[in-house]
Amino acid sequence: MAAPLLSRANFFSGAADTIKVALVGCGDRGTGAAMQAMLSKQNVKLVAMADAFRDRLDKSYNLLNANDISDWSGSAGNIKDKIDVAEERKFTGFDGYKKAIALADVVILTTPPGFRPIHFEEAIKQNKHVFMEKPVATTPEGVRKVLENAGIAKQKKLNVVVGLQRHYQNSYKELFSRKEMIGDITSAQAWWNNDGVWVKKRQQGQTEMEYQMRNWYYFVWLCGDHICEQHIHNMDVINWFKGGYPVKAQGMGGRQVRKGKEHGEIFDHHYVEYTYADGSILNSQCRHIPGTMSKVDELLIGTKGKIQCGAANIVDSKGKVLYQYDTEKENNPYQTEHDELFAAIAKGEYKFADAENGANSTMTAILGRMATYSGQAVEWDKAMAVTMNLHPDTYTWDTVPKTVPGTDGYYAIATPGLTKYA
Ligand SMILES: NC(=O)c1ccc[n+]([C@@H]2O[C@H](COP(=O)([O-])OP(=O)(O)OC[C@H]3O[C@@H](n4cnc5c(N)ncnc54)[C@H](O)[C@@H]3O)[C@@H](O)[C@H]2O)c1
Repeated sequence: MAAPLLSRANFFSGAADTIKVALVGCGDRGTGAAMQAMLSKQNVKLVAMADAFRDRLDKSYNLLNANDISDWSGSAGNIKDKIDVAEERKFTGFDGYKKAIALADVVILTTPPGFRPIHFEEAIKQNKHVFMEKPVATTPEGVRKVLENAGIAKQKKLNVVVGLQRHYQNSYKELFSRKEMIGDITSAQAWWNNDGVWVKKRQQGQTEMEYQMRNWYYFVWLCGDHICEQHIHNMDVINWFKGGYPVKAQGMGGRQVRKGKEHGEIFDHHYVEYTYADGSILNSQCRHIPGTMSKVDELLIGTKGKIQCGAANIVDSKGKVLYQYDTEKENNPYQTEHDELFAAIAKGEYKFADAENGANSTMTAILGRMATYSGQAVEWDKAMAVTMNLHPDTYTWDTVPKTVPGTDGYYAIATPGLTKYA
C-alpha cells in the first residue's frame, strides 16, 4: 500500500494491509530492530534497506533471511516470509536513505546518531511513521532540527518511537507509577561504567571519511562521545522521573587509557553534576575503562526514600523495602516498543510522540559533554543555542571531515580549561 501525502490517522484499515518497513542503517542494532518489527505480530514486511556500506547491508540482509534466526537473535524460528527486499530496493552510500524511506510506511533509523536529524527530517517530510534509535543527534543544531521535526510529526499525526527502551520496560513503568512513595526527589545518581566498545582499525586505501564512518564511535560528529551514545539511557531515566531537564551542568572528564590513534577524539570518562530547576542534583558518571567496576544503573533519592532502578525496588530512608517489582514479570522492552508501535499503526492510531523527549535527553548528554570538554559550568539555554558546525558541508567518500588527524596521526583532544564549549 502506498503512503498518502498527509494524514496518517486511520490510514491502515485493517489486518489485510501490509505495513511496509524500510531500514536505514543496517548494523547491529538496525538488524535487531528490523527483526523486532517483523516479530511484532502485525502484517509487516521489510521492503527496503539502506546503508552507507554494501557489506553491512548484505550482512544484515543475510541475518534477517536466515533459516534460523536463533543463532544471532535469541528469537526462535525465522522471519524469511517478511523480508522482501529485492536488489533494486537495496541502497548504498550517503543518499540511499531518501530512496528507502520513499518505499515504506514506517522507517527504522539506526545509523550512528550524527545522521539522525537529517534522516528524521526526511522521514517526516515524506510522511512516515518512525522508529529511531537514541541518541537522536550529536550537536545542539542536530537537537534543534529533531525538535522542529518532532513538532511537525505531531501535526501530521505520525507515530514516533525512540529507542530509549526503559520507557517500554515493565519494571521501570511500575517504579515510575509509584514514584510518589519517595516524596520529592532531591538528588539522583546515574552510571554507565564498563569496559567500552569495539575499535575499527584504519585500512589501507581508505579515505579519511570512510575510516571515520567505519570507526564512528570515536568521532564526536558521528557519535557524540560515549556520554551521549550510551549514558543517555541513564540520564533519560532521571529526566523522566523528574519530569524535566537540567538547567545547567558542570563536570570533569578525560582519557586515561583511550590513547591510540584509533581512539579518535572521545574521552573514556566523564563525571557530571547536573542541576534541575528545583535545585535538585543529578550526579552522573560514565566510564569506558577495561578492568574497572562495571555498573549501569539509576538511583533517585527523595525526602521519604529511594528508587533503586537496577534492584527494581523502592526503599525507605533506612533501606527497608517498601516495594519490590517481581522480576519474573519483566519484558523485553526492545520487542515491546515495536509491538506497541506497529499495533498502533495497524489500527490507524496516533499514539507515540517520543521525539521531543529523545531530543531533550540527547541534549542533556551533550550539555554534559560540553561541561566536561570545557571544564566550565554550562547553562542549558546557552548550550541549546550553540552552533558547533562539526559536520562536513557535503557527504561523499572524498569529503574531508572537519576533524582530521595531525601529521603524527593523532586527533586533537578536548582540554578542560582551554577548550571552549561553544
Ligand atoms: N537502545 C539501545 O539499547 C541501543 C543498543 C545498541 C545501539 N543503539 C543505537 O543504534 C545506533 C546504531 O548502533 P549500532 O550498534 O547498530 O552501530 P553499527 O555500526 O553496528 O550500525 C550502524 C550502521 O549504520 C550505517 N551507516 C552509517 N552512516 C550511514 C548513513 N549516512 N546512511 C546509511 N547508513 C549509514 C553503518 O554503515 C552501519 O552499518 C546508535 O545510535 C546506537 O546508539 C541503541
